Amino acid sequence: MNRRRRNNFGVLALVAVMLGTMTGLVAYSETLYRLFCAATGYGGTTQRAAADTAALSARPVTVRFSADVAPNLPWRFGPEQREVTVHLGQDTLVFFSAENRSDRDLTGHATFNVTPNKAGVYFKKIQCFCFTEERLGAHQRVEMPVDFFVDPALGTDPETSDVDTITLSYTFFPSARPEGAQDLARFADAAPSAEDGGKLFATNCAGCHALDRNLIGPPLGGVIGRRAGSVATYPSYSPALARSGIVWSKETLDRWLAGPQHDLPGSLMPMAISDLAARHDIIAYLASTRTGAAAPPAVAQQSRPQP
Ligand code: HEC
Repeated sequence: MNRRRRNNFGVLALVAVMLGTMTGLVAYSETLYRLFCAATGYGGTTQRAAADTAALSARPVTVRFSADVAPNLPWRFGPEQREVTVHLGQDTLVFFSAENRSDRDLTGHATFNVTPNKAGVYFKKIQCFCFTEERLGAHQRVEMPVDFFVDPALGTDPETSDVDTITLSYTFFPSARPEGAQDLARFADAAPSAEDGGKLFATNCAGCHALDRNLIGPPLGGVIGRRAGSVATYPSYSPALARSGIVWSKETLDRWLAGPQHDLPGSLMPMAISDLAARHDIIAYLASTRTGAAAPPAVAQQSRPQP
């Protein structure tokens, strides 16, 4: 063999070995397939990011959530919100809940997928229960956060510039390797986080509330300790709220956010936060704000399944 042919042969052999190895690995194990996808963005698998360093873009995108459980894992698992509308680059927090309906501790792992597939590489997760094997105690229920942003490059790539809705789907499977799994109870005991609450405020509240001025709703900077319906410059309080006699505290805010119309019939705030952990994070954030402080970062809406 002359030198050139030997080189060609070498390249061919290398390609054959790589192809064979990849096919073998992919066929061999679902976990390896998942790793392969996570590394390449292949098949609509999303990317993991260390932090949201992307610039914020004005362009909105709607992210829908869906969740499934393999038939041989007796868990109930679902998203706590049907969809969120966020700006490209906006760091966003959403919740999923899982409940182990069996009498024994069980370990599962989640696979995830994004449609349309071509958007997968632009969907970046900072925090997710889908990175590890997860153990859930018998009859235990937890709410698990997913922290993500959609890379603004989605809007400039000609392939994806038409994408205005992305669907994120998870499926939980029983784990083949339960040793070394993390315990999902870490989410059940998590203390309220003002930082997470700020993200939730940006997604759920900032469309109607600023901290320092009237929008559709009254300003909320320093709301804890304030009498309900008492911002003199806000023109459109309902009589129900203005005459309620409520003083905003962590407890009264929690009841209000869980269902304003239920808490106070005749009041006019058209949304609720059904997720307890999310309410506590938002209240921790509000507790950290002051009257007249700067406006929160972004405007978007979030819709939750009605109870
Ligand atoms: C679609 C618009 C909208 C969204 C979204 C919204 N609110 Fe409101 N909010 C209102 C309106 C309107 C009022 C006044 C209600 C009334 O007078 O009955 C209000 C009132 C309030 C009040 C009472 C303020 C006061 O001065 O007494 C609080 C507290 C509050 N909202 C918190 C929140 C939080 C926290 C969120 C996000 C989780 C949120 N709101 C999301 C529209 C909204």
